[in-house]
Parts: sequence; structure tokens; C-alpha cells
Amino acid sequence: MEYNDMVMDHFSNPRNVGTIEDASGVGTVGNAQCGDIMKVYLKIEGDVVQDAKFKTFGCGAAVATSSMATELIIGKTIKEALQITNKTVLDALGGLPSAKVHCSCLAEEALHAALWDYAQKNDIIIEGIKIPVETH
Ligand code: FES
Repeated sequence: MEYNDMVMDHFSNPRNVGTIEDASGVGTVGNAQCGDIMKVYLKIEGDVVQDAKFKTFGCGAAVATSSMATELIIGKTIKEALQITNKTVLDALGGLPSAKVHCSCLAEEALHAALWDYAQKNDIIIEGIKIPVETH
């Protein structure tokens, strides 16, 4: 299985690892098949994602995609953030081996789950958001 340099870089030096104490939204998702878990924290002010952090208990591809997903979402409006799909993350990373493409879905789901949490906490409706599946 071949990982490109960009994926290896984000795996070896993941950006935005950590937590945000007073996060506006937190999303936790898991992949039932492999058992990997991803948690994303977002700081949202004035409709813009000011900061994003993550913790991933998962494979290298999950770490790399979380890292890239948080890089992509920082500075985006909520509407723009919703446009970030696993394909966006994959493209930004220059692709993953086909057997690992499913790992990138966790990143998309975690971003959506954190935005969902933000919407719930603030009693707002975000058009087009996917309701996250509960993870325990
Ligand atoms: Fe589980 Fe990659 S193998 S997310």
C-alpha cells in the first residue's frame, strides 16, 4: 500500500491535534467496522470557524484526513464548511490508496457532527447538515 508524501507528512506531523476547552461544537464519530474514533472540536464566532482541533484514535489515514480536514475548515463560514466532503479532503491530500478511502469518510462525518452540535447548542438550523449517528 502506497501513501503519498503529503499523506505521510500529515500522518507524521498532524496539524491541529488537541482539544478546545470552550468549543462551540464537538463531534465524535466512529467507524463500526474498524473501531476507529475521531473527535473534532470547533470554535465558531460570527458564522466563521475560527479554530479546529481533533483527536483521532485510529489508523494513519484517519489521522492524516483529520489533520487535513481541520486545516480546510479553519477560516470557512458554516456554509462553506458544509461543502467539505471526504472527496475534498482526499483531493487536498492527493488521494489515498483505495483500501483506505473509507477512512476519509470519518473526517467528513466528524466535521458535520461538530457543526450539528454547534447548531443544537445555539438552537439554529443549518441547511443541508447530516444528522450524526450517535457514538458511545
Ligand atoms: Fe479505520 Fe482507517 S482503518 S478509519
